[in-house]
Amino acid sequence: MVDVQAVRDAIEQVNDPEIRLGLGELGMVRDVATDKGAVAVTIALAVTGSPLRETLLDDVVEAATGIEGVTAVDVTFITMTDEERAALTGSLRGASSEEREITLAAPGSKVRVIGISSGKGGVGKSSVTANLAVALAERGKRVGIIDADVWGFSIPKMMGIDRAPTVLDDLLLPPQAYGVGVISMDFFVQPDQAVVWRGPMLHKALEQFLVDVYWGELDYLLIDMPPGTGDVAISISQYLPKSEILVVTTPQPAAQRVAVRAGLMARKVNQEVIGVIENMSWFTGDDGTRYEIFGSGGGEALAKDLEVPFLGRIPLVTAIREGADVGKPITVVDPDGEAARAFADLAAQIVATGPRLRSHPELVIS
Ligand SMILES: Nc1ncnc2c1ncn2[C@@H]1O[C@H](COP(=O)(O)OP(=O)(O)OP(=O)(O)O)[C@@H](O)[C@H]1O
Ligand SMILES: [Mg+2]
Repeated sequence: MVDVQAVRDAIEQVNDPEIRLGLGELGMVRDVATDKGAVAVTIALAVTGSPLRETLLDDVVEAATGIEGVTAVDVTFITMTDEERAALTGSLRGASSEEREITLAAPGSKVRVIGISSGKGGVGKSSVTANLAVALAERGKRVGIIDADVWGFSIPKMMGIDRAPTVLDDLLLPPQAYGVGVISMDFFVQPDQAVVWRGPMLHKALEQFLVDVYWGELDYLLIDMPPGTGDVAISISQYLPKSEILVVTTPQPAAQRVAVRAGLMARKVNQEVIGVIENMSWFTGDDGTRYEIFGSGGGEALAKDLEVPFLGRIPLVTAIREGADVGKPITVVDPDGEAARAFADLAAQIVATGPRLRSHPELVIS
């Protein structure tokens, strides 16, 4: 005899792969019937044509098969009625569904929002964002990325995401890779279309990324900042006043001088600078020799200037670029390599420190 309730319980524990909540909590498990060892289950989907339907099917079958006596599982998918879907969307938006509230910035929200910034372009902000996100997810954290580089978006490509968010009424469910949910302007513009935006439009786009995207409960939201300082930084600090900044630089003094401005900008808008990470610090030749192609000391000097912790160095590794080009972060491709270990170490330090107290109020420039 198969315990029908046990089967139902197991299926209700399965997470919807897009909403990342249990099927039971989402009210998606309809009928569960057993006939000797054969289980027949009906699941109501919020959206038809979900690209993750196969994943859900596999997960449900696996959960049901785990129950003693179950020999076969037959899953029927139906679609929620408009009313059911509207109720679900309303509950996902939260109690304040009438107002367009940023739940991530609500007083009870435990999420740590970290902007990845640098003064200069091309120093590796996006690479750090993608790999840090994966490293945090690998530590069991719930992680999302906002690609705030609305002109030069690169996160979806680096993470290997080539599908748009799923639309659930007026909510967008961010596509995921390696356990990380991602939202980017990349999903909303045609290939080769130029994105020419002024400050107010940028501000609006970022608001939509925060309000109209269902992020759920997150531990970390990383924001890949565009190069330079300016509009986006100001918008982020307004929407997410508790956000912190991680500054990326390369070892050479010129990059360090520009990066100081990113740090000071963060202070100016009252964001905490959590530390400095130096990228492209050395290259290890085939003979094991370390070459400091871009010089050395820039990261530490910058941390000293900003009076924040120096969080480490990331080597120059061809596989970082190759991985980025094919949507496989180095943290996934070569988890034991020196670069992945540097990212894992960065993740560990960020988790360990927690948000620092604002310990340098005297440095806030107005
Ligand atoms: N440590 C590294 N080793 C090798 N290649 C790297 C490393 N870090 C970044 N790259 C490569 O350098 C290029 C620039 O990196 P990335 O796009 O992460 O920088 P960015 O600061 O986000 O640039 P932008 O300012 O244009 O947004 C990419 O091709 C990336 O793959
Ligand atoms: Mg970038």
